[in-house]
Amino acid sequence: MKKSKGPRRIILKAPWEIEKLRAANQMVAEILSELRESLKDGISTADIDRIASERIQQQGALPAFKGYHGYPAVTCISVNEEIVHGIPSDQRLIKEGDLVSIDLGVILDGYFGDAAFSQIVGDKGSDLAKRLISVTKEALYRGISKARAKRRLGDISSAIQRYVESQGFGVVRKFVGHGIGTALHEPPEVPNFGSKGTGPILKQGMVIAIEPMVTAGSHDIRVMDDGWTAVTADGSLAAHFEHTIAITDKRADILSDGFM
Ligand code: MF3
Ligand code: CO
Repeated sequence: MKKSKGPRRIILKAPWEIEKLRAANQMVAEILSELRESLKDGISTADIDRIASERIQQQGALPAFKGYHGYPAVTCISVNEEIVHGIPSDQRLIKEGDLVSIDLGVILDGYFGDAAFSQIVGDKGSDLAKRLISVTKEALYRGISKARAKRRLGDISSAIQRYVESQGFGVVRKFVGHGIGTALHEPPEVPNFGSKGTGPILKQGMVIAIEPMVTAGSHDIRVMDDGWTAVTADGSLAAHFEHTIAITDKRADILSDGFM
């Protein structure tokens, strides 16, 4: 989500609501697995979007992104220097070696699912692209490993930032993760940068989407003329991974588990 302002209260979820969120997020995970299989040389990003749209319909859910602030598609598909919010298009054909990020959200029974992954098409990817993807995914899991009741939100942010920067990559600041529930975006914001020991105290029943966006160069971004597609300002590659998780007294419960 775009970084915004204004404190609103964090909504804690009851166990039955966590199960609704798990169902929505498991649907996202299953569809993302299928979209991953479709990532072949020559497919258009609009074709991938249509697969997602059909699956969501077949399963009696609704797309979460379509119509959100006027967003025109079911998925966000961002290629190479595109970071997030790439709009699927019949003109955009995927080719071998492309670094593709796919982000999907659904609404099932009033509850939201949201998750994303990046992958290289075929096996001809550059070493840089491969490393960027593995660092971004590892950063997400390092963040998740800090997500536990009684710790602070900044512990997650700091773990992500420290790891990414230690690997020589940049953390995007203009977009952040978010609380999620009966809306796609709820408080709190979940930045991928910050200091441990700061921010809200994590509590059992909080549900958040953690989504590091990592660049191979400068972390500065630019939004294209379509009003959505965020690209790296310097044209460097970018990757994005996202899981929706529930906070517990023990290790985090990854509601969207199963597609990475
Ligand atoms: N995972 C992204 C987010 O939380 C996807 C949003 S796409 C939008 O911001 F179209 F809904 F904005
Ligand atoms: Co999100």
